[in-house]
Amino acid sequence: MRIEDIKAEVKGQLGREIFFYETVGSTNAIAADLPEKTPEGTVILAECQQKGRGRLGRLWLSPPGINIYMSVILRPDIEPRDTTLITLMAAVACALALRRVTGTLITIKWPNDLMVSGKKIGGILTEMKTARARIISVVVGIGININGDLASFPEEIRGIATSVKNETGRLFSRERIIAEILNEMTRWYRLVEVRDREALLSEWKRLTSTLGKEVMVISGQQTFSGYAESINNEGLLLLRLPSGELKSISSGDLTILK
Ligand code: BTN
Repeated sequence: MRIEDIKAEVKGQLGREIFFYETVGSTNAIAADLPEKTPEGTVILAECQQKGRGRLGRLWLSPPGINIYMSVILRPDIEPRDTTLITLMAAVACALALRRVTGTLITIKWPNDLMVSGKKIGGILTEMKTARARIISVVVGIGININGDLASFPEEIRGIATSVKNETGRLFSRERIIAEILNEMTRWYRLVEVRDREALLSEWKRLTSTLGKEVMVISGQQTFSGYAESINNEGLLLLRLPSGELKSISSGDLTILK
């Protein structure tokens, strides 16, 4: 990875400082352990993760040299319960950046999976540190499958995961994609800071493939099926159950039924 190439294209506040590692446990873990004085927008980037973290306690497979594993440190002046906005903002930024650079029709599956042709191409794991009910840092961890072949994926995820290479038949510069993501994040993060939920949520809604579909959501021990009607101001999914009740769901695993 050529950090200078990324820095040359970074235009905003996020990504001015980049710490690069060949191998780490998890870039999110490194970011969370940095001292409090570490400036906002600092990025941790790695070629390979040995304990990449996924959502819901899962492992994020992180083979070397072909993908993006990065964590961005933010210090937003918002309430801890509003960090869902940060995750939505990151998904919007990644989807737009990937669309622009790769030309693929990336969509967002609630809450923040990056999808193409019904398969997962990337994910976002947001982890927050608080003290006395105030945010110390929010670490936005981004993992995207870029230049790997489907044949190299473990067999059990070949049907549900993909990479940019697999979708386009081409190799892409990871540096270019990273710079574009950071530039988009700088732009959309500003809306979080000025609390312009409307603009952010409406862009998320434009980019999602979840709303208006019959879906199944596994949330903790419970499973719900229904019509994905909308998301509310806090980023919760509003699911219309067969009984007519409108259920709001804060996290879970979603499958699109039709
Ligand atoms: C998901 O489960 O969809 C979220 C995956 C997030 C993976 C990224 S890779 C960089 C960062 N470091 C981690 O350990 N996880 C995130």
